[in-house]
Amino acid sequence: MGVRRLAHIAAELQRHGLAPDTPAALVFDGTRESQSVVATGLAALAAQAPAYDERPGLLIVGETVRLSPHYREAEAVAPAAPPGGEHYGPADRARLQRLLAGRRDMRHFRRGQNIEPQTLDRLLQAANQAPSVGMMQPWRYLRVRDAALRERIADIVAAERDATAAALGERAADFLRLKVEGIRECAELLVAALPPDDGTVFGRRTMPREMVVCSLACSIQNLWLAARVENLGLGWVSMFEPARLAELLAMPAGAEPLAILCLGPVEAFYAAPMLEQEGWRTRRPWQDAVYEDVWGASPNSRASSV
Ligand SMILES: Cc1cc2nc3c(=O)[nH]c(=O)nc-3n(C[C@H](O)[C@H](O)[C@H](O)COP(=O)(O)O)c2cc1C
Repeated sequence: MGVRRLAHIAAELQRHGLAPDTPAALVFDGTRESQSVVATGLAALAAQAPAYDERPGLLIVGETVRLSPHYREAEAVAPAAPPGGEHYGPADRARLQRLLAGRRDMRHFRRGQNIEPQTLDRLLQAANQAPSVGMMQPWRYLRVRDAALRERIADIVAAERDATAAALGERAADFLRLKVEGIRECAELLVAALPPDDGTVFGRRTMPREMVVCSLACSIQNLWLAARVENLGLGWVSMFEPARLAELLAMPAGAEPLAILCLGPVEAFYAAPMLEQEGWRTRRPWQDAVYEDVWGASPNSRASSV
């Protein structure tokens, strides 16, 4: 087995809970005299994987690594820290990868919970730090506090869920078995909306609507990730008739709701996307979503290590 693959396994071990600084070594093949031991933490090994070749080797995990007379710290292959801004190391990268892999769209929430005001502030601040076209910042968040209003929003979503089932034809029954929202149970309900267009031209001359929608989606993604590091779940609900929701929430002409966001403590995060667990669809490998030069041409020269 090539050494690059071992580094991939190191990344997987972290995903399953081993600390990034767990001692770990790649032992390259050879006689005892010529054996070379590259020892470092799990996270560093995983991050440096692209620098390793396809030689055969062994992965050793645990304190015994340090007993080897051949022990040497692996040399970092990361570029030198550029000036300005924070510098990140292998452990940061490993944690970010775990955060991205562990973010889930949640539909099951613990009932009767609250979110601390300071926590909610941090989340909304994260949402506000998103990139946006021409720095337009086309996001507004309506916090739904009124219980009756929440109920009416749930009704609007229920109506659209039925319409979706009808549109799905033979998969209707499978679809109706899926839970698609946690509006009544979640601690906080937010509606993410586009404000009336402010006429920004910068970056949106050719695709004005798409660019505002993308900007709001970036903001929601920030919120999603920020919620995960607060150990809170977030579920994105898009099944609703926007005009009905806009009217219910007294939005001005030109404003448009884009997402209903269910936010709050959960019993447990799904280990994999719920739609995957329920056999609806699976995540495709990233390599299948990347082409080289022209549409459909797969990369063929780059060995994969992540
Ligand atoms: C734009 C958008 C709209 C979505 N709408 C819904 C929805 O109405 N109901 C739902 O249950 N999930 C919805 N989702 C969540 C997706 O089903 C989920 O992201 C996907 O299955 C992958 O799962 P994961 O987010 O846990 O990785 C939506 C996600 C996005 C990005």
